[in-house]
Amino acid sequence: MKQLTVNLPGREYDILIGRGLLPQAGERVKAVLPRARKLAVVTDSNVSPLYSAAVLASLAAAGFDCRLFVVPAGEESKNPSQLTRLWEGFMDFGLTRTDGVIALGGGVVGDLAGFAAATILRGVALVQIPTTLLSQVDSSVGGKVAVDLAHGKNLAGAFYQPRLVLMDPDTLDTLPLPVFMAGMAEVVKYGCIWNGEFFDFLAARPDRGALMGEIEHILYTCCEIKRQVVMKDELDTGLRMILNFGHTLGHAYELAGRYVEWSHGEAVAAGMCAAARLGVRLGVTPADVPGRIEDACAALGLPTAIPCSMEDYAAAIGLDKKGAGADITLILLDSIGRAVPHKMPRKQLLDLLEDTL
Ligand code: GLY
Repeated sequence: MKQLTVNLPGREYDILIGRGLLPQAGERVKAVLPRARKLAVVTDSNVSPLYSAAVLASLAAAGFDCRLFVVPAGEESKNPSQLTRLWEGFMDFGLTRTDGVIALGGGVVGDLAGFAAATILRGVALVQIPTTLLSQVDSSVGGKVAVDLAHGKNLAGAFYQPRLVLMDPDTLDTLPLPVFMAGMAEVVKYGCIWNGEFFDFLAARPDRGALMGEIEHILYTCCEIKRQVVMKDELDTGLRMILNFGHTLGHAYELAGRYVEWSHGEAVAAGMCAAARLGVRLGVTPADVPGRIEDACAALGLPTAIPCSMEDYAAAIGLDKKGAGADITLILLDSIGRAVPHKMPRKQLLDLLEDTL
């Protein structure tokens, strides 16, 4: 097992990474929540048949009184009415301020259950048990929790750090290949923004078997990078924006595919390739970088370019709302392993996109 500790003022928590950790959930949660009696376990309709029995059995064996809350799988569940359903369900269950919420699943469950934990009774303890690659390397660490509104994604939310993150790579074995590879886009992102050697390590292992052979090291390296970034900028006022490498243009591609054609990870992969090409045009990124990122993404079966209208680019960079004068900060690379925020007028970015991509 590998262990990392996130140190934030007054709130310290561990990230535990290891095969076979899921059936140890009870004792691990007991160690961090010794006074809790009741645990609300939130999961979704895909994850529940696979893992809820093992987690509930382990929690019950550790003496917890548990109730399972299952939301329909998919982004649509990250909404205020599911949030209300959870709040009311927690109250029916008799949850108190010394009890806790367990988020068992991917990013949707982590964000929804996390926001429910942050807000019920003005905040109860949260434990994240992420079961997808994307949630293990990104959303379960760092405390961002939210639901979507009609106006857009993640618009109602909080920074609310968990008391423990417990990840068992065995849960990745049940992920469909495209979902696993979409998670790899975020993994490659960490190599691009922070650690060039890690990028090369990944580029040399483009198939799932080879990656799973090194999965504890991969999860540890990503979480270590995210840990360092979050410890320096918990509230996302500066450094944390480098985690958005590939995401601004990725958002345009998600829009272009109306959120069904391309997964978040696929859109981020194409977004990273596009940001690298733009970086070369802007004189920030060395000329060999786009090709190296494209090769790494293509080897993983991820798209390196996605067709997108200028309207969708404009919407994604906020030009439709914020006007031509306002600046945007795009994350670029000055080498593989080093991200540099680059501020530019939104209109200039749109012109460049028309020209470059
Ligand atoms: N997913 C980006 C962040 O946690 O800041």
